[in-house]
Amino acid sequence: MASAKTKTLWFCTNCGNEYSKWMGRCPACGEWNTMAEREVVTGSSKATPLTSASGSARKPMRLKDVSTTVEDRVSLGSAEVDRLLGGGIVKGSLVLMGGEPGIGKSTLSLQLPLHCPALKTLYVTGEESVKQVKMRADRLGGSSENCLILSETDMSAILKEAEETAPDLMIVDSVQTMFCQHIDSTAGSVSQIKEVAAQLLRFAKSTGVPVILIGHITKEGTIAGPKILEHIVDVVLQFEGENRGAYRVLRSIKNRFGSTSELAVFEMTGSGLREVANPSEMLIPMHEAGLSGTAISAMLDGNRPFLFEVQALVSSAVYGTAQRSATGFDVRRLNMLLAVLERRAGFKLGQKDVFLNMAGGLRITDPACDLAVICAVLSSTFDYAIPSDVCFAGEVGLSGEIRPVSQAARRAVEAARLGFNRIFVSSYTHFDQKPEGIEVVKVADIPALVRALFK
Ligand code: TYD
Ligand code: MG
Repeated sequence: MASAKTKTLWFCTNCGNEYSKWMGRCPACGEWNTMAEREVVTGSSKATPLTSASGSARKPMRLKDVSTTVEDRVSLGSAEVDRLLGGGIVKGSLVLMGGEPGIGKSTLSLQLPLHCPALKTLYVTGEESVKQVKMRADRLGGSSENCLILSETDMSAILKEAEETAPDLMIVDSVQTMFCQHIDSTAGSVSQIKEVAAQLLRFAKSTGVPVILIGHITKEGTIAGPKILEHIVDVVLQFEGENRGAYRVLRSIKNRFGSTSELAVFEMTGSGLREVANPSEMLIPMHEAGLSGTAISAMLDGNRPFLFEVQALVSSAVYGTAQRSATGFDVRRLNMLLAVLERRAGFKLGQKDVFLNMAGGLRITDPACDLAVICAVLSSTFDYAIPSDVCFAGEVGLSGEIRPVSQAARRAVEAARLGFNRIFVSSYTHFDQKPEGIEVVKVADIPALVRALFK
């Protein structure tokens, strides 16, 4: 091991970035007069290996000699969360759960131990008092003798407590409120967040206790500002959903022990989050058939096909400039689709207000939704109701062509299962086997779509 040396570094007390010399203004966060001097030890044991507690030097191994035992997993008592993690949480893993404030991270993370009493859980909260957690727990129903609550923000106290308690699961809410005393910046700064995560990772790996770490997502949509945590942790789960809608999607965006194309849907109710095991049936709202401005999209988000409703309202612009607004859908993508409709198919929408809504408050990123968006807009424009047994799956290109989407067959099968009779897809879609029980209508471009649908 290299011998320890000390050197002087300057670091910003606001954001935690380090510099080799003093500066009046921190180039990273833009704050003035925040530089502080600190002696740091280099080449010391700071970079202790994560798994070698013995300190013995490790030798390379032949790949074929490495034993591949299945990871030891613990069930969290929630079928959806277990599936998302790849069959339960892996012992000694660090899972980051991110999401905007108010989305339901604390609710879910408290609900898990409450509904799984066999699991001895240490729930550390830096945001709420023990009383507040108790009030929330009462609301969620279910109780557990085995759920220990600790209201603390100092990492050394937390880790000491965790070692004494030796829980089966530890939950830390949230990374932004925790701090390590030996770092001179405030809780929530880059260097604190990094160190808190590194300490928890070391704890998880050395004791085998799985840790769920909660992180708020900043306005830019990244967890804790720069994506500093995502490569440190083993699994990143992200909570999404429009705040006003009742539905929430928990998505795995990184998983060292499973697939990342998984998602779980929850509904926020008066007594906590309810698992929505079959999203399709929930996401198609019940209203009378024959309403214009709605179209059903056969979605594939993650690995699971489901169907949901796209709603559009097109009306004459009252003010000089037309308004475009989209809930749960990228408004730039909507503008592009409207431009394609105008230029490639001759629909004059420049003087129209267009409002788009994804039913259920979901945020949709699957490009296969384009076709349903276009159909909902056209349906509202002509006040023509699309038959209720029709659904759509296709991406729309800039020249108005309809492009094939991934796993079209699975989408068609799901649509058939839910009683749909026709699905519109791109003419370039290839099916290994023709989907049963549903008529597949292939369209090449928007004019062809209009002829087939609004004939
Ligand atoms: P919360 O878990 O506190 O969000 P986060 O930790 O991500 O910031 O959830 C907050 C919202 O959920 C809050 O607005 C209240 C609502 N809620 C319910 O609707 N039902 C419930 O049973 C609970 C506990 C919360
Ligand atoms: Mg919270």
